[in-house]
Amino acid sequence: MTTSRADRHLPMLPPDRPAGLSRRALLAGGALGAASYLLPTSLGNARVPAAPAATQALTLAAGETQMKLLGPDGPASRVCAYDGTPFRTLRFPRGSVLDVGFQNGLDEGTTVHWHGIRLPNAFDGVPTLTQPLVQPGGAYAYRVPLEDPGTFFFHPHCDETGQAGRGLAGVLIVEDPRDPAFDAEHVLCLKDWRLAENGGFLPMSEPDGASKAGTFGATRRCNGQPSLALEAPAHGEVRLRILNLDSTRVMDIGVDQGEAALIAVDGHALPPIPLDRLPDGVWRMGPAQRIDLHVRMPAAGGQVRLADYRAAKLYEFATLTATPSARPLRPFRPLALPAAQVPRADLKKAERLTFTLQQATDAAISAAGLPPDDPLAKALLDSLCVGSTTYWGIDQLSWPTGSRRAVPPPLARMRAGRSYRVTVKNGTRYPHPIHLHGHVFEVIGSSSGRLPRHLADTVLVQPDEAAEIAFVAAPGDWVFHCHILEHMETGMMGYFRVL
Ligand code: C2O
Ligand code: CU
Repeated sequence: MTTSRADRHLPMLPPDRPAGLSRRALLAGGALGAASYLLPTSLGNARVPAAPAATQALTLAAGETQMKLLGPDGPASRVCAYDGTPFRTLRFPRGSVLDVGFQNGLDEGTTVHWHGIRLPNAFDGVPTLTQPLVQPGGAYAYRVPLEDPGTFFFHPHCDETGQAGRGLAGVLIVEDPRDPAFDAEHVLCLKDWRLAENGGFLPMSEPDGASKAGTFGATRRCNGQPSLALEAPAHGEVRLRILNLDSTRVMDIGVDQGEAALIAVDGHALPPIPLDRLPDGVWRMGPAQRIDLHVRMPAAGGQVRLADYRAAKLYEFATLTATPSARPLRPFRPLALPAAQVPRADLKKAERLTFTLQQATDAAISAAGLPPDDPLAKALLDSLCVGSTTYWGIDQLSWPTGSRRAVPPPLARMRAGRSYRVTVKNGTRYPHPIHLHGHVFEVIGSSSGRLPRHLADTVLVQPDEAAEIAFVAAPGDWVFHCHILEHMETGMMGYFRVL
């Protein structure tokens, strides 16, 4: 096995994956004490890196809190949040290693997944596959290296429609000292809520949604508000980090006036693209996808409005108002972020694979599984993190649901350090934002010609579209799934086993 990739990828860990961890720990059952964090045993053998990265110790607690989503005079809603702060935002410099003491204050099991971060598989947060479920009152230690600058987030990977539907997500911003200077920066978290008039939650999933485009929330919010009123200096340069944290909705993000350019997707820099050069002047963004925009402010008093143009009813989620400033008006020149430094697939030598996203019928999706005595298969039987019905699959395989709990074999077996080109074909009538854990991939293009070449961790594949991604495989079991959470929980998930 080549270790060069692992050396770069896991500076704090030996190049071999602590493979025994998840199974051993899982089979130990709910033996986790509330105060003891579980660490992979192999960490004790870790080589000390030559120049230790700055380790940042922090605690993180999942729990419930109140949020006034229906306005200041409306009833409060009991939402889920980390550290009692909806969309808690963490900011660290690139090169930091987070030492996270996580505590589960919810009344059901959870885990933390660090979406878009290239990290050791043991900290990826997928119950059964990479770690045991963290029981209520339980704890878990995550070690998260922040090698790539950009806009990321973290969220639970169990009962996601429930926990994420009730707001459980945090923002992780990895700062790069080489970034150009902006006059202002704002973080905008878009998420719709499924609320009843009394502030309580409607069912997060309905069969008619789960089996089609998903179950939508009607209370549209940005950072929990109907619309954000933001300010920035006239003629100033503004950086907006926009996150689609919704469980379901695909959005077309655009600005009504003013100049703006797309400067990063899923955290990773791309050569700036003025928004008016994109199809329809918008960037289409599915659940879990993020963009960074550079917006140039108009003269004092002028406004730039940001909206989702895809919604049947236009949703204006933020307005930027220009405040007086002495800045002269210069021609708009989008500020490029420093080029991303991630492993790039060798496209010529890459192995090619194709996967088809499918609507499941009993005949179409087989229940072929791992042998029942495989510890992973046994463990899954006890896991609570499966949905109740199968509606979807990938290449004739569905992630287990309901009584159908055989863990499917991996979608593919890959070699660590090798390059892969994966074509994702959408054989359904609905769009699917497809996410691969633990990797940054290059979107090479799509059959629609709609996608520019760019780096990402999630790619939105439209009906009848085929998108091609390429990446260098990192060791571990990495799930590959639709980020419309109901689709994922009703079968549209599998994993790549990289050895
Ligand atoms: Cu944000 Cu499994 O993903
Ligand atoms: Cu989907």
